[in-house]
Amino acid sequence: MDIPVEKLARWTEESRVLVLRGFDRMAKQEFADYCRLWGELLKWEPGEVIDLVVEDNPKNYLFASGDVPFHWDGAFVEANPRFFFFQCLDATPGAGGETVFSDTTAVYRDADSELRQQWQGMSLTYSTEKLAHYGGQVTERLIAQHPATGVPVLRFAEPLDPAVYKNPVHVRVDGFGEAESGDFLAAMAERLHQPEYCYAHDWRAGDIVIADNYSLVHGRNAFTGPTNRHLQRVEVI
Ligand SMILES: [Fe+2]
Repeated sequence: MDIPVEKLARWTEESRVLVLRGFDRMAKQEFADYCRLWGELLKWEPGEVIDLVVEDNPKNYLFASGDVPFHWDGAFVEANPRFFFFQCLDATPGAGGETVFSDTTAVYRDADSELRQQWQGMSLTYSTEKLAHYGGQVTERLIAQHPATGVPVLRFAEPLDPAVYKNPVHVRVDGFGEAESGDFLAAMAERLHQPEYCYAHDWRAGDIVIADNYSLVHGRNAFTGPTNRHLQRVEVI
């Protein structure tokens, strides 16, 4: 509260992801009310604050202990979340589960002009069954403009193998055959995973992380052992 929202928002825009460490945990309502200072909050069926914990028998891969492939938040809702906020209530150090962010503005910057041109014309269709708080089918252009800076960003989510992930997201490139689509998605995923574009956040209780949902895609490393991690997440439109 001591740092003006405008300043924090500028830092987040410059850095894409902002980590604030060592803070007191906020009550759920307090956390939502703070985030509301940044803008309108996305309301999910469970509420404005989503609790992210590993479940024993989850219906959806987000609540399992495996990895979560790259995606942006809010693909299946009308509103496009601008920022998302996490607060970490509890963490198990050394148990994996880092949240990984990849900077798509840098990926775009480093692509040659031929590739950029191909990307400009592409749309991808995502579909998933609604078993958790989101679902449906949506088509998005691969390249979008950042709403504040106008810089090109990639809107990309990795496909999920139904044999591995519960409640997977299916992805296809519009106008591509299945094999061609698969090759393109695999190459794009590999590009986004290059270490120079990525930051893996190792959670500690008392962390508050603010991320730019347009510039970044994000995912999670698998947990490597038992965890009592508890994150809460809010999306600001
Ligand atoms: Fe997410």
